[in-house]
Order: sequence, then structure tokens, then C-alpha cells
Amino acid sequence: MSKIAVAVFNRKGGVGKTTLAVILAQIALVRHNRVLAVDLDPSKNFTSAFSFLKDSSFSDYFRTKDTLEDSDADAPEEWIVIDCPPSLDESTKYAVEFSDITVIPVRPDYFSVSPLRLLWTIAEKQGKTASQLPLVKVGFDTSSMAKVVNQIIQEGIFPVAGELPMHKGIPYNITSGRIWSVGLPARNRHPYESVYLKITKAVERMQNGEKDVREVWKSGGDAE
Ligand SMILES: Nc1ncnc2c1ncn2[C@@H]1O[C@H](COP(=O)(O)OP(=O)(O)OP(=O)(O)O)[C@@H](O)[C@H]1O
Ligand SMILES: [Mg+2]
Repeated sequence: MSKIAVAVFNRKGGVGKTTLAVILAQIALVRHNRVLAVDLDPSKNFTSAFSFLKDSSFSDYFRTKDTLEDSDADAPEEWIVIDCPPSLDESTKYAVEFSDITVIPVRPDYFSVSPLRLLWTIAEKQGKTASQLPLVKVGFDTSSMAKVVNQIIQEGIFPVAGELPMHKGIPYNITSGRIWSVGLPARNRHPYESVYLKITKAVERMQNGEKDVREVWKSGGDAE
């Protein structure tokens, strides 16, 4: 299988970037991939999440580092997952450029969608298509603000890869050396697995020469 590089980014803080990066990396591990976890955030939460797994059966299959460089494209791992800080600096711009897919978690909060226009001006210059920058909606509810944000998303150019419900078991699991999904009901596990599978499909199609993978994000995702 060829390599998949995924960045998780939003300039807005606290939207669920690190949590999603940890979960995508853990799903890749559970599915017998090796993972290179790149933690660009000085808070090093992503690295900590892996330190909790150091005594697990996965310990030989992941590596963490805190910078991203061109040579990482030749890393032996099948998955490279990059957790970005909530800032659009040179390191995050490079992460977007380096990655096949940049997943953008958004909360039902105006400020989590307002940085998207700027991100697009940068990604477009890098030669990316909007279909390489899917949004994932995190913890959307029926509030008026969620309606406003949904409207902004519908009018924007970024596709939506999925909708992730909140569950207090997720932060608990990933900070206590468990796999993220332990004890979670299927309705909380499947949306994350579906996003993972869609990323796999999108990258496969891109490697086969498809430029626009918008259709993949609209599909069911087939999480089993
Ligand atoms: N699906 C979820 N269910 C429950 N809690 C969640 C979920 N996703 C994220 N959280 C919680 O939301 C908070 C913010 O998440 P996280 O740290 O992943 O965001 P972030 O975007 O990486 O933040 P920062 O910008 O500070 O790096 C954390 O307390 C995390 O545990
Ligand atoms: Mg974070």
C-alpha cells in the first residue's frame, strides 16, 4: 500500500484537531499500518497521547517527531498524521502542502469557519483542490449558531467528510492508554471510522490520477 499523509488543521483552537489526529492514527494502527505521528503544536498533546500507548502492543508500530521535513515523504510508515497548532504559520502551511489531505475540524461556532477563506488562498497557490481539504463537523447540535455555521459551510467550497458526535469516553480513553473506541457505542465509533476510510479512498483515487475527489466525501464511507 502506498503512503497516506494527512494533516489535521484549523486556525481556530479547541475544535478537536488533536483528538481527531489521535483517532485517525489509532485506527491506522489497529488496521495494521505503521504510523509516523508529527506533532507541530508546542503543547505536545499529540505526542503525549502516543506516550500513553508506549507499553501497548502498538508501541513498535509508531514513531513521533515534532518537525516535518521533505525527507519524511520517504519514511517507511504507511500513514503520516500531522497535528497542527491553531495558527497559520510556515510549519502549518508546509503541512498542508506536504499532505495528500488536510482535514479541517469545525465546531458550531462562527470563528471555526471564518479562517477558511484565508486557508483556501494559501492551499490554492500550493496547487491543491478544495476536495483535498474536507471539513468534519464536530459536535453540531440544533442551536441557531449551528444553523448559521451549516449555512456558511453549504455556501463554501470545502466538502464535508463527516459529522463527529461528542462522547466523554473519547478524551478519557486517549489519555488513559486505551484505544480511543473502548466502550463507545457504534454511533460514536462509525463516524470516525468512516472519515478514515474516506481518506484512504480519496488518496487511492488521487494516486490513480484523479484531481477532484469530492465524490468520496459525499459517499457513505462504509464503516463496518
Ligand atoms: N468527539 C469528542 N468527544 C468529546 N470530547 C471531544 C471530542 N473531540 C474533542 N473533544 C474535546 O474537546 C477539547 C478540544 O479538543 P482538542 O484538544 O482535540 O482540540 P484542538 O483543536 O486540538 O485544540 P488546540 O487548538 O488547543 O490544539 C478537548 O477537551 C477534547 O477532549
Ligand atoms: Mg491540538
